This record gives sequence, structure tokens and C-alpha cells, in this order.
Amino acid sequence: MSIESVLQENRVFAPPEGFAARAHIKSLAEYRKLYAEAERDPDAYWAARANEELHWQTPFTKVSEWQAPHAKWFLGGKTNLSYNCLDRHLEKRGDHLALRFEGEPKDSLTLTYRELHARVCRLANALKALGVKPGDRVGIYLPMTSEAVIAMLACARIGAVHSVVFGGFSAEALRDRMADAGAKVLLTADGGWRKGGVVPLLENVRAAVAAGIPSLQKVVVAQRTGVSLELKGNEVGWNALCEKQPATCEPEWVDSEHPLFILYTSGSTGKPKGVLHTTAGYGMWASLTSRWVFDLRHDDVYWCTADVGWVTGHSYVVYGPLMNGVTVVMYEGAPTTPGPDRFWDIIERHRVTILYTAPTAIRAFMRLGDEHVKKHDLRSLRLLGSVGEPINPEAWMWYRDVVGGGRCPVVDTWWQTETGGILVTPLPGATPTKPGSATLPLPGIHPAVLDDHGQKVEQGGGKLFVVKPWPSMLRTIWGDDARFKTTYFSEREGLYFTGDGARVDADGYLWLMGRVDDVVNVAGHRLGTAEVESALVSEGRVAEAAVVGRPDDLKGTALVAFVTLKAGVEAGDEMKAALLKHVGKEIGAIARPDEIRFASALPKTRSGKIMRRLLRDVAAGKDSKQDTTTLEDLSVLAALRNDEE
Ligand code: PRX
Repeated sequence: MSIESVLQENRVFAPPEGFAARAHIKSLAEYRKLYAEAERDPDAYWAARANEELHWQTPFTKVSEWQAPHAKWFLGGKTNLSYNCLDRHLEKRGDHLALRFEGEPKDSLTLTYRELHARVCRLANALKALGVKPGDRVGIYLPMTSEAVIAMLACARIGAVHSVVFGGFSAEALRDRMADAGAKVLLTADGGWRKGGVVPLLENVRAAVAAGIPSLQKVVVAQRTGVSLELKGNEVGWNALCEKQPATCEPEWVDSEHPLFILYTSGSTGKPKGVLHTTAGYGMWASLTSRWVFDLRHDDVYWCTADVGWVTGHSYVVYGPLMNGVTVVMYEGAPTTPGPDRFWDIIERHRVTILYTAPTAIRAFMRLGDEHVKKHDLRSLRLLGSVGEPINPEAWMWYRDVVGGGRCPVVDTWWQTETGGILVTPLPGATPTKPGSATLPLPGIHPAVLDDHGQKVEQGGGKLFVVKPWPSMLRTIWGDDARFKTTYFSEREGLYFTGDGARVDADGYLWLMGRVDDVVNVAGHRLGTAEVESALVSEGRVAEAAVVGRPDDLKGTALVAFVTLKAGVEAGDEMKAALLKHVGKEIGAIARPDEIRFASALPKTRSGKIMRRLLRDVAAGKDSKQDTTTLEDLSVLAALRNDEE
């Protein structure tokens, strides 16, 4: 693995003094003490944290149970995360703002904790009236509006399992996920605003339903874009359904291990995996990491720009910040609509104090020029976070200097859908940061970089594992426990394999190097190349396709598709356009290859495996051919490297 460019990075930034003095964790020594404490007596450490973070209706009697690869945490306890996010704040801080929503067309809505609580309770009652019981799955396919938060918390309130599907996914992707989850009810909207246009959510839902979701009984439709709605068949209007329901709803006190949500994420082969998270372990870690990493206080105006369709939106738009009682900013639309300064305008107007966004956005803003940032007063900001992919030092420095005015600590947070919450990150008042490094594990988290023989690498590169269980780890893959074992626990028996490569430096800091398998990270979204390949082939005229990632300044990784066509089919721009359109329909716009290259044959190893490493090299090459009418001949290259596996 190449680590050269990273090795040249030797800048170190101490936490700003004023910041450290009032931070939740104030020094590296304090961090190390906590880390050692967690190592010495894990059960005592985790029990204390779980009791601090959550309201327990029934206290737990056992901290953890680990029979690799199955973990259980806080056994015997009962709680409810909707109660923890809402009811706990009502008495003292019910009138504090929970949500500050801004739509793309600049409409807005604010909800206090009391108001949010009432809306959640109404929907919870409505879901019950529709026959939703604890353990039933409810699909959520909504824009980034308050309804998305209300929907998730209403499910949690009644013990239903939510499965959010990102609004950018197509009807086919939605159908597959809902059918796999066995969703009984699907919550959606007529549409959502994006780049000045309407994302036709309801239309997609109708197409998905027509294609077949056998378990689905009802579709609840919120009105967002104002298109006149004529509901059909099993569809009901959100408002009509909720307005007749009472504004209180007793929470369902569920076991610690009661399933909270299923979130689909890409795997290297086959269909997406339904990552299952349960209640208490996930909840306590979302709450604790939000406070430690973002140094949250009640008066913070916190903005995480992730969509609720991704895990970042689950843990750090909804559960973590609301459990901490802060004001959450939510923005519906595109970052540069109507102009390149929309983000900075939002920060200025709402006096945002904490910004959590992705390197792909940071790089895009960097390219647009400093002037759009500089024309806004961003002095309210006090902390900046990054997530989703490695942040290159150049972007890190720009984020710190131009957005943060050089005064805000930058936390580069490493984690995954499967980990439930942040595992490796600087603590803003404690950890000296190095641009491009996610730095050190949180107390209680035990990552290890192992070489190909399973030996621990004290300094240098290898594969990243987590060697001890932690409360917010995924519990299984929905409906496929065998795949759960092989995907995460078979690389090294009993150890959780992250799928990422990483390097440890002389200070024990971790530098993440991206995925080691055939999953690529495009603009902060994890995509399985296999899924894009099968979408290409399903167009009908494609014989075979191989999709690889190529480093890209803006998106982190761009997708390059090598395609061979069926006999008699002509390569060319028309074919290319048809393939792009088809992938957009099958998976969604984010999966559309940035480049399609037609080849006479794909290079294969003797055992018949596509030589992906070779294709990655070809894709990264400077001599990229843009002439789409001719076929590339990759056989010569393949012959030269025929012993590659
Ligand atoms: O490769 C790592 C990368 O994103 C992957 C997880 O993707 P997903 O499950 O979609 O969750 C994204 C949000 C947590 C990881 O395996 N990744 C995430 N954060 C970082 C990162 N790579 C480097 N640095 C990060 N801070």
C-alpha cells in the first residue's frame, strides 16, 4: 500500500488553549487515564458510561456477553431511545429548540423539544393504529425534512425497527431493500427539493410497490413539494393520519438488545447488507461520542450535513445530538443551490457553532474559491468535523484555515455503518491533530493494524481490525448471519475486520488508507463495485463489466467502468449515455460511472478472475482514452501480468 504522500505530513496542531480549558476532556493525560481505566476494567467502565448516558426504566444486570461474533450489551435492562432523545429534556428544557430546519427553497421550520415530542407521539400513535407492533419493520424514504427525524423517533418510541433508504436511491434499490427488510409500512413524501427540482419520491415508491414488496401494507405520504396529491390504493396522507391522534404516547420500554434499525450498506459481492443495530449499546455510544467528540453543550447550534439515509445521519443528526439536548440544524437541499455560498450563508444566519461534513464537500468548496466563504461571518463556529473518507492534508488545512479561521479544532472521525458510532478520532480539547490522520481510538476501543500473517504492526501499514467488542457494533446482517460471520470475522478468527487499510505512525496515530476490497468510497458514500457491475450488465447489451475506483480530486474516488458489449452492439456515445441512464435508474445517480471505457475483452487471471488491480492501474493512467467509439485492447497488458491473482 502506498503511503508516501502521507509520510511527508508532519505538521501537528495542539488543541487551542481556550478550547481545551472548557472542553469535556481537557488534556491528553485525561484521555490516556480514561483509556487505561477502560482497558483495566472494561465492564466497570462500560457500565458507568451506560448509566450516565441513558435513562434506564429497568437497570441492566449484566454488562456484556461475547461469543464471537455475537455480542450482547447491558443485558436485562430496558430503555427507549425516543424517550432519551425527547422526554428527558421536557421538564427543564422543553422550550429549547430541538430542530432548525431549512428547506432548499429557503422555507423554514423550528421545533422545540416539546413540539418535536408531540409530533413524534402523534406519528407513533398513528403507526400503532396502522397495526405496527414492536419488532415490525417500517421503511423511511423521505427528504431531509423534520419528518425524517419524526419518523425515526416514532418508530423507536413504539419499538418498531426503522430502515431508512436514502432519497437519492432509485425505485429498484428501494424495492430490494424494503423487500429484504420485510417492511410493513413505508413513510415517504410527495417529493423533496434538490438543485431547484423535485425528487419524485412518491413516484419511485409507486414503481417499487408495483415491482413487488410483498410485506408492505401501507404507504404514508407527507406533503413537501406541494404537488397536488391524489392518493391511491394503500396510500394515506401523513397529516390526515396524525392530526386525529393524541400528542402523547407512552414509550415502549424495550430490552437493551431490541433491534433499533436496519441500514443497508454496500458489500463487495452480491446484494447490499442490512446492518442491524440494537437499542442500548448503539444509543449510549451515539450519545457519549457526540458529547466527547463534538464537545456538545446545550447552547450549541450543531449542523451535521449528512443525509439521514446514511449512518452519519442516524447517529449524528438524530440520536446523538438530540440525546444531548442541543439544537440541530437540518438542511434539505444541495450544497450549492442557489449559489456557491449556501453552506456559509446557513452557518451565518443560524449562528452554527459546530459543523460536521465530508471531505468531498470540503474539496468541492475549496475548488469554488475562498471568496464564497469569506463573504460570510463564520465566527460562531468553534469546532469542525470530517467524516466519510480519508481527508487529504491539503483539504484539512483549508477547512481549518479558511472555514475555521484557524481557531477551530478539526476532528477527523473514522467509523463505519457497522461500528454504529465514531471509533477513532481526536478529542478536540485533548488530542494534538495531524492533518490527514484520524489520530487515536476512543477509550474502550481497541483497533489493531495487522499484517498478512496476523501479526500486530507497531509502526507501518496493514489491515485494520477491532480486536475487542464494543457496545455499538453491528449485531448481524439482517436475515443472513452466515454472511455476517464471513464478512467481518473470517479474515482473522474472532476479530472484527473493518475492510480498511491503515498505517500506524511513531506516535501510535492511525492514518486511514481506504478500502482494501472491491468496495469504493465515492463522495463519502460506500459503493460495492459489484453492484454497479451488475447494474451495467442488466442493461441488456453488455456482456461483462468491471468497475474500479480511480483517485479523484473532488470525489475522493471516481468510478471507471470497463465494459465489453454483446456481439453486434456498437460502442459509442449513445451506448454510453444509455448505460449511465440505466445505472441511475437501477441504483441512483451517485453510482453512475464517471468514465465508461469499452474493451474487446476484460483482462482475466488464469483462474478466470478479472484482474482488478491491473484495471485500477489502467484507470489511474494519464493516457486515458476519451474516444468512445473504439474498443481498447487490454489483452497485451493482461499477458504481461498473467501471474497476478
Ligand atoms: O473506508 C472508511 C471510510 O468510510 C468507510 C465506511 O463507510 P460507511 O459505512 O458508508 O460510513 C461512512 C460514515 C461513517 C470506512 O470503512 N471512512 C469513514 N470515515 C473515514 C473514512 N476513511 C478515512 N477517514 C475517515 N475519517
